[in-house]
Amino acid sequence: MSTPLLAPATLHGLRLPNRLAVAPMTRVSASPEGHANGTMARYYERFARGGFGLVITEGIYTDTAYAQGYARQPGLSDGEQARAWRPVVKAIQGAGGRAIAQLMHAGALSQFNRFRDHTAGPSAVRPLGTQMTAYRGEGDYPVPRAMTDTDIAEAIRGFTRAALLAMEVAGFDGVEIHGANGYLLDQFLSGHTNTRTDRWGGALAQRVQLTVEVVRAVRQMLGASAPVGVRISQGKVNDFGHKWPEAEAGAATVFGALAHSGIDYLHVTEFEAWRPAFGDAGPSLLQLARRHAPGLAIVANGSLHDPGRAQAALADGADFVALGRGALSNPDWPKRLKEGRALAAFDPALLSPVGDIKPAEQQP
Ligand SMILES: Cc1cc2nc3c(=O)[nH]c(=O)nc-3n(C[C@H](O)[C@H](O)[C@H](O)COP(=O)(O)O)c2cc1C
Repeated sequence: MSTPLLAPATLHGLRLPNRLAVAPMTRVSASPEGHANGTMARYYERFARGGFGLVITEGIYTDTAYAQGYARQPGLSDGEQARAWRPVVKAIQGAGGRAIAQLMHAGALSQFNRFRDHTAGPSAVRPLGTQMTAYRGEGDYPVPRAMTDTDIAEAIRGFTRAALLAMEVAGFDGVEIHGANGYLLDQFLSGHTNTRTDRWGGALAQRVQLTVEVVRAVRQMLGASAPVGVRISQGKVNDFGHKWPEAEAGAATVFGALAHSGIDYLHVTEFEAWRPAFGDAGPSLLQLARRHAPGLAIVANGSLHDPGRAQAALADGADFVALGRGALSNPDWPKRLKEGRALAAFDPALLSPVGDIKPAEQQP
């Protein structure tokens, strides 16, 4: 089948065989010390062998302070953790793919942190919802400690060090800063979770500044050549249907700030990427990102596993399409598309009772 989805592309100098990416997916399958392993190498390699040009990893914690979110989440907080990623990255690259490390700080949504017995976030506000059992959590989230200036500086340093370790030691082709889904940077972005009155709080233009600051620091650390992206969403893992109260003006503020921050790409995710971002009509979040960040590459995500939907996302302004569940049920989605083969439906049992990597996902 001939489709623009299978056309080669370049992402900030990174040559990619097509426009298809695996979306970041936490699979809590690392060692208890946060080391990536052979299970993960086999799992990730399958996507590259199945034709995905780009593999974005699960969220990887960045420091030994408050970043870790889950038991058996992999880390990039020291040299040993970074070296453990090397075979995983090599497996992806050896199969013709490129690998991007998603750098994540869980903030107040941390369900487990082997370095701390309490959580930290922008303000002492208990997160909505309950912890995810698929990631071995249960019950309410604790009330986080409001981060001090020192904590914030440490979190920024964690992102920069993890980015350097990702590129220099693990051999990744780029990094993605996780600014979405309710984790630390999104907690700063949201008025509900960020009630600070210092330079990191206030109007949305202020609340996005921590993300901008992290991007600047990471860019400065990596230099001009490394591909750097940011992931943005409205919805949160603990507040799925959240919409920015600032609506389209908010999208202009967030995407406008990021457009000038030094990133190469914006990864925009919604439950269904083609829906109006606000209300029943109007542009999607993807279209708003395209409008307000005209110079950036855009990765679109959200229920785009139907090839018609994926192709329509390119027409709506995306340069790349990332698949989550569609990739789990079809690690060879791009090959199937090329050969006109049927796609398998997603089976949620795969992530139950715990969302770790299953034996069937490691088959060659
Ligand atoms: C098991 C699982 C784990 C996920 N973990 C992450 C993560 O670590 N980082 C992230 O940004 N998004 C994560 N997500 C969200 C996905 O990247 C994606 O946005 C979501 O699955 C919607 O895309 P889809 O409709 O193609 O599945 C996860 C989703 C799933 C299903």
